[in-house]
Amino acid sequence: RTLSDLGDLRGKRVVIRCDFNVPLKGEEITDDGRIRAALPTLEALLGQGARVTAMAHLGRPKGKRDPKLSLAPVAKRLADLLGQHVEFATDTVGLSALKASANLNDGEIALVENVRFEPAETSKDDAERMELAKKYAELGNYFVSDGFGVVHRKQASVYDIAKLLPSAAGELVGKEVSVLSKITHDPERPYVVVLGGAKVADKLAVIDNLLKVADTLIIVGGMAYTFLRAQGKQVGGSILDASKVDACRGYLADAKAAGKSILLPVDVRVAKGMDLDARTVDGPVSVVSVDDIPADQEGLDIGPATEKLFAEQIAGARTVFWNGPAGVSEIDELANGTRAIARALATGDAFSVIGGGDSAAAVRKFGYTDDQFSWISTGGGASLEYLEGKELPGLAVLDKEN
Ligand code: 3PG
Repeated sequence: RTLSDLGDLRGKRVVIRCDFNVPLKGEEITDDGRIRAALPTLEALLGQGARVTAMAHLGRPKGKRDPKLSLAPVAKRLADLLGQHVEFATDTVGLSALKASANLNDGEIALVENVRFEPAETSKDDAERMELAKKYAELGNYFVSDGFGVVHRKQASVYDIAKLLPSAAGELVGKEVSVLSKITHDPERPYVVVLGGAKVADKLAVIDNLLKVADTLIIVGGMAYTFLRAQGKQVGGSILDASKVDACRGYLADAKAAGKSILLPVDVRVAKGMDLDARTVDGPVSVVSVDDIPADQEGLDIGPATEKLFAEQIAGARTVFWNGPAGVSEIDELANGTRAIARALATGDAFSVIGGGDSAAAVRKFGYTDDQFSWISTGGGASLEYLEGKELPGLAVLDKEN
């Protein structure tokens, strides 16, 4: 169900779940992409004269109040972007939230404090979550689900509340689903997927499904080393998940049998190590072939020959989906591979979709604007689970009549 299914919302009290899980440095928001992505729905609701109470999470405070994870900076940025006051409630379902929500006039908005300060928000116990959802439901008479990045979570503000109020997907959720559905069911070919990130274990399920739909799978980032090991290469001190080497060998064989390609780096940038917090590299960075990774060095980015090879693949594609950095994009010396992939996507004419907070933050850091890509998904885990073909609880609940 979409917003129009809720009818005329003038003067109606609407609770909306957004994904405002933005990266912060102290109180400074370093990438406000997720807040901007919520604007079309919020502006549509406010423009209709709805009285909007927004809910969101920030980080994983595990049911405890953590001032470092307050949504107060988000309320400020949201007010700047909307060009109107955002009343910030200092609690989530207490007096401050009830008051902020009840005092709204037509076309006004409040944001309540981090839903994950409430222990029941993420509880595995259905009854406990439902008790909390009933309190959320006191903040309005309608529910709009627009936090795409969190629809894969069965949590009180995403799932249970939708069972209590007339509910619909917001514009962002609608757009995300239409883009991801298109590349899952009807991609223009050749369809190239670039998968990166540190942990191969997180991506195995999606590889399974992607091998059914994509023509070429390019593997970068930390996960590439487990694949290289599966090809019999020595990976030195690079990230390696020994328990997944057999699975990777299986995928390489399956891809070959199905006439598809899994492409791995041919050269990599190596160093003794790095410190992500300090943004420093341990020792000089050098380029080596994947056949010659020294035992005391760690692969930390793809090399220039690989960049060229993968850029050519992307240039020849009609559809590209990219999730996960190729190196350590936060450290300049190890950001070249990620930069090369971003450049190839931005300059090519394929339908290009970027998923995952790290890749999205990286392309913005490199100076690209969102309109240079066909779509930047606000969901990391959510977009991958969608591509895996899993049922996402926060979407499924909107399809059911309550
Ligand atoms: C994300 O950052 O991917 C979403 O906001 C979901 O956050 P979570 O993984 O902590 O549930």
